[in-house]
Amino acid sequence: MPSIETVTDWYDRSAAGYDAGHLATQRKYIVIEKSLRSLLARGRVLDLGCGTGRLLNVSNEERVVGIDLSIEMLRLAKRKSASIARADGHHLPFASGSFDAVIAAQGVIRYMEARHAFGEIARVLKAGGRCAVHQFGRGLSIRQVLGRKQEPIDEFALLDVEDLARPARHAGLRVHEVELFRSIRRYPYALRMHPKLPSRLSDALWNHCVLHLHKPHAT
Ligand SMILES: C[S@@+](CC[C@H](N)C(=O)[O-])C[C@H]1O[C@@H](n2cnc3c(N)ncnc32)[C@H](O)[C@@H]1O
Repeated sequence: MPSIETVTDWYDRSAAGYDAGHLATQRKYIVIEKSLRSLLARGRVLDLGCGTGRLLNVSNEERVVGIDLSIEMLRLAKRKSASIARADGHHLPFASGSFDAVIAAQGVIRYMEARHAFGEIARVLKAGGRCAVHQFGRGLSIRQVLGRKQEPIDEFALLDVEDLARPARHAGLRVHEVELFRSIRRYPYALRMHPKLPSRLSDALWNHCVLHLHKPHAT
């Protein structure tokens, strides 16, 4: 796992080009991030690792708070919402039980120690609160699977959704749904895979997942 200083430095340096780079790939996220966006309507919401504030806007700034490590990413987010703060997701500066939902889009958790990150998410969520985490999978293109194209492996991408689900369960969260997607070149740019697909078959089949979690009510 990269250090906090390394991640901060990466994103401070890449902030200026981040939104433009995202424009080229955003169509697939209309499908992949649909469920994360729907959580934004759910009371008080934390956007963990909000980056440039893609999912923040002035119309929800009373309720939706974004935090990020990178000052440069937050500088851009500030244009979209005033409800942002610099913070490390391993130490959230919020009271326990203060959010109805937490979202983490575009692989934020891959830079974090997952048990610690989910521990903080579980702490700040209210009982019954929801969380949706989007993570990249190590899915290969057909040409890569056939060995016709060499591309560097993304070492932070998931091979198995269980590697994300296990630390979440350890933090006391319950998994209630796993969405697996395969991005494609043509409309609709991402296909939702069959829910019974084994989560371990990342290599050829899926390259994005959204893990849906909730914090159970005390029994
Ligand atoms: C790929 S960007 C995603 C940004 C945003 N969620 C989006 O969907 O556009 C990952 C972001 O996570 C932030 N990040 C990484 N580790 C973090 C941590 N420990 N605490 C807070 N933010 C973190 C980075 O600074 C970066 O802005």
